[in-house]
Amino acid sequence: MKSTSKSTSKRTSKRTSKRTSKRTSKSTSRSTSTRMIIDAQSLSKTYRLGGGTVLALDNLNLQVQEGEMLAIAGSSGSGKSTLMHVIGCLDRPDKGTYRLAGEDVFKLSENRLAEIRNRRIGFVFQTFNLLPRMDALENVELPLLYAGFRGAKDRAAESLKKVGLADRMHHEPNQLSGGQRQRVAIARALVTNPAILLADEPTGNLDSRTGEEILALFGALNAEGNTIIIVTHEQDVAKHCRRQVHLRDGRVVADRTGPT
Ligand SMILES: Nc1ncnc2c1ncn2[C@@H]1O[C@H](COP(=O)(O)OP(=O)(O)OP(=O)(O)O)[C@@H](O)[C@H]1O
Ligand SMILES: [Mg+2]
Repeated sequence: MKSTSKSTSKRTSKRTSKRTSKRTSKSTSRSTSTRMIIDAQSLSKTYRLGGGTVLALDNLNLQVQEGEMLAIAGSSGSGKSTLMHVIGCLDRPDKGTYRLAGEDVFKLSENRLAEIRNRRIGFVFQTFNLLPRMDALENVELPLLYAGFRGAKDRAAESLKKVGLADRMHHEPNQLSGGQRQRVAIARALVTNPAILLADEPTGNLDSRTGEEILALFGALNAEGNTIIIVTHEQDVAKHCRRQVHLRDGRVVADRTGPT
């Protein structure tokens, strides 16, 4: 008799205890808007021109939480664009520190700074800055191609849908109205899912009704959790933002947050 002792030691221990400790590194927990996105301290910037100097930023502090929508307001020459360039990692100040989502950006190399700028900041300009020979879809796709994302076309199309231009994807800029061009620019700014959307006088080239529509779009995008900073010298534009930071001579002279 053969004692066919089937050693059925199945090794049940190896029950692949799926402890998927993947740690979803996507820390885009937008509902709890307590994360500090911008922490800029003691920013100073002097321009030298001819024999003289202009103090464009004078020991300026600014802190912004994730999910805020704020206006940086002030008269011409008060330092708004200079500040936007610093916040947008397009320029460095002479003095001060700047943490963008926790990262000390002025300590980074030029290459790394450019990478942060491409991925984490979405720019919207007064003059739209679209490429003329490319249609809306190609314009929106560009930042993704630069950043080496895959599936760029689909994401670009998604972004255009978000700004209400699903039916204008193959129009070139000169086949679009001013408001539609700015929507394309906003879709392009959003497509990389940036930490902040920075808009410098985004309604400056639009008639007032179209300008209102663009501001309403910013409001809707903010309601979805996007952090938005609008630079403007127009009080009418600033009042679309709950928080208004006023600059004068490169300094913050007022920082008010109104009711929701
Ligand atoms: N490249 C530069 N060289 C010299 N001075 C400059 C330069 N850029 C800006 N300035 C000066 O710095 C100050 C701040 O300029 P900035 O462009 O930040 O103002 P702004 O608030 O954006 O004005 P605007 O509402 O007219 O756009 C101004 O006095 C300006 O003349
Ligand atoms: Mg300006």
